[in-house]
Amino acid sequence: MTTQPSTQTRAIDRIRSDVRAMHAYVVQHSVGYLKMDAMENPFSLPEALQRQLGERLGRLPINRYPGARLDDLKAALLAYAGAPKDAAILLGNGSDEIISLLALALAQPQQGQRATMIAPMPGFVMYPMSAQLQGLDFVPVSLTADFELDEAAMLAAIAEHRPAITYLAYPNNPTATLWSEASVQRVIDAVGEQGGLVVMDEAYQPFASRSWITRMRAEPERNAHVLLMRTLSKFGLAGVRLGYLIGPAAIVNEIDKVRPPYNVSVLNCEAALFALEHTDVFAAQAQEIRTGRTALVEQLRAMPGVLQVWDSEANMVLIRVADAARAYEGMKARKVLIKNVSTMHPLLANCVRLTVGNAADNAQMLAALQASL
Ligand SMILES: Cc1ncc(COP(=O)(O)O)c(C=O)c1O
Repeated sequence: MTTQPSTQTRAIDRIRSDVRAMHAYVVQHSVGYLKMDAMENPFSLPEALQRQLGERLGRLPINRYPGARLDDLKAALLAYAGAPKDAAILLGNGSDEIISLLALALAQPQQGQRATMIAPMPGFVMYPMSAQLQGLDFVPVSLTADFELDEAAMLAAIAEHRPAITYLAYPNNPTATLWSEASVQRVIDAVGEQGGLVVMDEAYQPFASRSWITRMRAEPERNAHVLLMRTLSKFGLAGVRLGYLIGPAAIVNEIDKVRPPYNVSVLNCEAALFALEHTDVFAAQAQEIRTGRTALVEQLRAMPGVLQVWDSEANMVLIRVADAARAYEGMKARKVLIKNVSTMHPLLANCVRLTVGNAADNAQMLAALQASL
């Protein structure tokens, strides 16, 4: 007797085979661990602000769909970022959602018309994943061995592939590098000549010495095809989920058409507005993290067994050790979670990525690392 596959098996078979072949995004189990794997801000909200925020959120009309407060949030974010006059803004449920929306808006699923996405690699994993899911061709361009932008390789890839969209993470994850402004501008110019879009991903802007917004304000024409993507995650609101995209209104308004209408909840919106009323608190936290980063990098450079430490413009530090898997496991056994990025890209062989925490976190992380090398 032949057995019929169950209805569940048959239903699962209807899901795209490339999706079934994928691995789900792994969020490490972290209860009981010091979490130094995801570049979260280590500081919680001061108690008085916690109470005020609680009261604000408690009064919200959660029986209503999000409404006019979103306009207040957009205005507050444009002002906070110092956006160019006439720029428009789109809100996302984290910048991860904006990455998906961009791929959705730019994909050309028809046979023979596929759009191309270019990004330097190693880089943020969501760019290639969004390309795969929406059917764009993804062209990775390797960074140099010291994680600088390979300008010649980028220009060659742009000329060959005429990308619809090019991502530049400024600073980059997981390398924490902030590429030369002149190189980035030449890449942006080259994409513009081919009629493509550039997304400057500034997720780590609170910890960086430069932002592309300055160039957008200085030379709006030259940056007329550039979109600036930011998030409140690393600023201190990773749990809130609020990303934003700033750029020329004509382009931003087209992307906005594929956004689900109520993608940012009244809770996200109000929490973000509240945070923007207290930017001094978050700026002081970012300053403390930057100061701690300098000390952390120095201590890592002095630690026997740490082979290489890259300069950082973000709240993470990339290091190379003799055996990344062993360092990762040793630290995990000592209740410190970091990210082993060594298999993500050949240039990252035996590299691990450390989040910069507060002074106590950094000390605990360094002790666990030393004992694990
Ligand atoms: C370069 C970069 N862009 C975007 C994001 C996504 O941030 P979120 O979805 O939390 O806004 C991250 C998160 O780590 C990142 O590293």
